[in-house]
Amino acid sequence: MQDDAVRCDDVTLARGGREILTGVSFSIPQGAFVGLFGPNGAGKTTLLRALLGLETLAHGHITVLGATPRASIGQIGYMPQSRSANGASLTGWDLLASGMSGTRWGIPRLTREDRLAIQEALDAVDATPLATRRLGSLSGGERQRLLIAQALIGWPSLLLLDEPLASLDPVRMRDVAERLGQIARQRGMTVICSAHDVNALMGVMDSVLYVARGRARLGRVDEVMTTESLSALYGAPVEVCRAPSGRLLVSADAF
Ligand SMILES: Nc1ncnc2c1ncn2[C@@H]1O[C@H](COP(=O)(O)OP(=O)(O)OP(=O)(O)O)[C@@H](O)[C@H]1O
Ligand SMILES: [Mg+2]
Repeated sequence: MQDDAVRCDDVTLARGGREILTGVSFSIPQGAFVGLFGPNGAGKTTLLRALLGLETLAHGHITVLGATPRASIGQIGYMPQSRSANGASLTGWDLLASGMSGTRWGIPRLTREDRLAIQEALDAVDATPLATRRLGSLSGGERQRLLIAQALIGWPSLLLLDEPLASLDPVRMRDVAERLGQIARQRGMTVICSAHDVNALMGVMDSVLYVARGRARLGRVDEVMTTESLSALYGAPVEVCRAPSGRLLVSADAF
């Protein structure tokens, strides 16, 4: 399908000589907001890296924005999970500027368009007040928001966010999730956002991509997040309950 932003056909990914994902196939339409879930070590980060062309496929084929991941790299925004604490003396602005082409840490040579793109990205996640602060003086959650802003610079067609909500407090988590949903809708951006709590992206995501035991399932929240579906994926009993508040609770027994 030409309209798919991401397509994985029978993809097998291995790391350290071990298969992480085996024969995974799914396609994500342009403009979709997908929540990526699964237990620690299931392969969420590995899959996102594969979509960036950073992993060699053991088998299968990946198409991103109608081309190979590497050919599409300029249209992809990425917030990695591992976030180094380097550069404590740099400001938030320096951090974002360092991601612009033709610049290096601390010596940004920015065009007017570059500055505008940085400012728009900062505004998008309410991070403008953080731009003048030194990274070393920011809380983990504040630094996180700057890193999300960095991934948004230039409004990429595909945004890959690896646990962007980790270490945010519940109110900020909801705020950032809703802002991301709004930006994605307004810009027609396709988003794949990994998280550990399904509830954090409820109402924001269109579908769930759940990875476990080497397999993946993509579908609507009400299709994937059920006792039957997750038990089949894990090959073991998993219980999904809906609390009176509407929150989904997934039993951890099979993890
Ligand atoms: N550089 C590496 N070399 C060898 N094995 C690796 C490497 N990086 C990751 N792995 C292994 O690949 C598997 C998948 O890791 P990955 O980081 O993709 O999981 P994840 O779903 O993102 O987990 P988490 O929720 O903890 O972030 C894990 O078993 C991990 O130990
Ligand atoms: Mg990960």
